Amino acid sequence: MIEIHDLKKVFENKKKGTVSYKEALKGISFMCKPGEIFGLLGPNGAGKTTTLRCISTLIKPTSGSILVNGYDSLKDDRKVRSIIGFLTSDMKLDGFFSPDYMMDYFGRLNKMAPEDIAERKEVLIKELHMEEFRHKKIDKLSTGMKQKTSIAISLIHNPDVIIFDEPTNGLDVVTARNVTDFLKKYAKEGKTVLISTHIMGVAEQICDKIGILIEGLIKELGTLEEIVKRNSTDNLEDVFFRYLEVQDV
Ligand SMILES: Nc1ncnc2c1ncn2[C@@H]1O[C@H](COP(=O)(O)OP(=O)(O)OP(=O)(O)O)[C@@H](O)[C@H]1O
Ligand SMILES: [Mg+2]
Repeated sequence: MIEIHDLKKVFENKKKGTVSYKEALKGISFMCKPGEIFGLLGPNGAGKTTTLRCISTLIKPTSGSILVNGYDSLKDDRKVRSIIGFLTSDMKLDGFFSPDYMMDYFGRLNKMAPEDIAERKEVLIKELHMEEFRHKKIDKLSTGMKQKTSIAISLIHNPDVIIFDEPTNGLDVVTARNVTDFLKKYAKEGKTVLISTHIMGVAEQICDKIGILIEGLIKELGTLEEIVKRNSTDNLEDVFFRYLEVQDV
């Protein structure tokens, strides 16, 4: 369970002796429950990554509160880190090693027992169809294979809460489907799944709840049906463009 209340983040940019401020999140609130996939949908620069990084304790919010399974992300940051699996687009994988090796390495970092690492590794390799490239050097892998490797690493400790930033970015339809099916399965098992995406189809197909984030504010929150009904349309794209047009004027 993730509970976000009035989350704000202001970035301070120092350049040539002058300071400017960017209000990336202007006070957002939402909840993501176990068994549910929550999709944060928004255009470039909306604040999606900032939100996920705050929840994952990588950056500190300016104000507001974040609870993950009841633990405060500021006070209990270590506990929060242990119960989440965070996937980010800027995750750097060492090209010299293999997916298999990296999974072992991250399993050990998470203080897992060797037999648990071995067992979990086989599950992930099967679920993500990584059999053919598990022992290849990461340098030699395609974008999709690298993304699967990042996903496997982020979930090696089988966390209760899954936070994925743009999980299907750059993936072909087959690989993207593999990843979205994988997320659906985990949600069905009772895990809390929060993703960000700018792809409307992903939000429509797999998200139980959607938050439309634009310029640091959540403009719409609810199920797909609720959001489209509220806006007297039958598709998310209409809703999305309506808010973007308002913003342009
Ligand atoms: N470390 C930082 N320092 C200063 N400004 C930042 C920093 N990180 C993000 N920002 C700014 O905050 C705003 C939100 O950025 P963020 O990366 O959260 O957007 P996003 O929704 O993830 O966009 P994208 O779809 O392009 O990934 C942007 O204006 C960005 O320039
Ligand atoms: Mg982003």
